[in-house]
Amino acid sequence: MVASKVLFVIALLFCSLINVVVIANDNFDQDVDITWGNGRAAILNHGKLLTLSLDQASGSGFQSKNEFLYGKFDVKIKLVPGNSAGTVTAYYLRSQGSTWDELDFEFLGNLSGEPYIVHTNVYTQGNGNREQQFYLWFDPTVKFHTYSILWNPGHVVFSVDGKPIREFKNMEPYGVPYPKSQSMRLYSSLWNADEWATRGGLVKTNWSEAPFTATFRNFKANACVWSNGVSSCNVTSSNSSNSSGDDQREWRSQELDSTSQKRLKWVQKKFMVYNYCTDTKRFPQGLPLECTVTTK
Ligand SMILES: *[C@@H]1O[C@H](CO)[C@@H](O)[C@H](O)[C@H]1NC(C)=O
Ligand SMILES: *[C@@H]1O[C@H](CO)[C@@H](O)[C@H](O)[C@H]1NC(C)=O
Ligand SMILES: *[C@@H]1O[C@H](CO)[C@@H](O)[C@H](O)[C@H]1NC(C)=O
Ligand SMILES: *[C@@H]1O[C@H](CO)[C@@H](O)[C@H](O)[C@H]1NC(C)=O
Ligand SMILES: *[C@@H]1O[C@H](CO)[C@@H](O)[C@H](O)[C@H]1NC(C)=O
Repeated sequence: MVASKVLFVIALLFCSLINVVVIANDNFDQDVDITWGNGRAAILNHGKLLTLSLDQASGSGFQSKNEFLYGKFDVKIKLVPGNSAGTVTAYYLRSQGSTWDELDFEFLGNLSGEPYIVHTNVYTQGNGNREQQFYLWFDPTVKFHTYSILWNPGHVVFSVDGKPIREFKNMEPYGVPYPKSQSMRLYSSLWNADEWATRGGLVKTNWSEAPFTATFRNFKANACVWSNGVSSCNVTSSNSSNSSGDDQREWRSQELDSTSQKRLKWVQKKFMVYNYCTDTKRFPQGLPLECTVTTK
């Protein structure tokens, strides 16, 4: 069978299982727990706003109360302004154990006026080494912007303000592991990474400018909650689905439409800083399988 047909059949099989449920909707008090930072993280405005901060003693972080198996996770973030060099704000999904899956957004700060880098990675069964990095087409410290991770049986898509910046397709038929059976929790943190983040660790965090603060709002998970081995989406009742038609279509779709594909190409052409798939020096024995397989 032609490869693309194999994927299509997989997609069809999964499609029939999925009903989407709005799980988290814009209330941090209900949706997340602050897990570390000893008072450096705070939920404000009746759950509408969350701030993480970092000083020389500690960073801070939160995690979702629920675990999920598939979903679309959006949050608006205003990143650490000014001289944020050395700081990293992370927003990611991760499962447990030594063969974990993980989908990462990390925002690497910079000196005032110098660009942030958006660092992304995909781990499957404990193996990462799939970094792609991007500059943004705006200053992410002035206003809130939406950062999204879409994860369904067909693909993982990282987006910024609705524009896809990276797609990781399910290429299991070609032997590339795909995150599909381990539930993940959503995590976010602000921490010091000045041993590597800014120009490979050359620029150090300037602690006289601490505390550093990143602000979050509008956390939304259109997702399947995983609890005691059962997915909330594996319910065929008529009222298990409670999200708008648009959300549903976007969530279920297992491939990018042509507009999204164009946007993805635009971002990758103009703003990509690093792509492991073209780093032949790093992989002298050959690029990873998913970089060389052609699915069409
Ligand atoms: C910081 O700014 C420098 C100079 O513009 C740039 O080379 C670098 O990629 C930027 N980002 C980080 C995280 O270092
Ligand atoms: C650190 O920040 C302080 C306060 O803004 C500034 O006076 C100082 O020059 C900075 N240090 C470095 C090494 O940039
Ligand atoms: C959904 O539920 C049915 C019946 O309880 C079960 O047989 C099936 O394995 C479940 N599927 C998933 C994906 O959890
Ligand atoms: C449908 O929704 C109602 C109200 O939210 C709930 O009480 C009921 O258990 C749901 N039915 C099923 C089959 O999930
Ligand atoms: C469905 O969504 C509506 C509007 O967002 C909300 O008021 C209602 O509580 C939701 N119902 C369930 C069962 O989640």
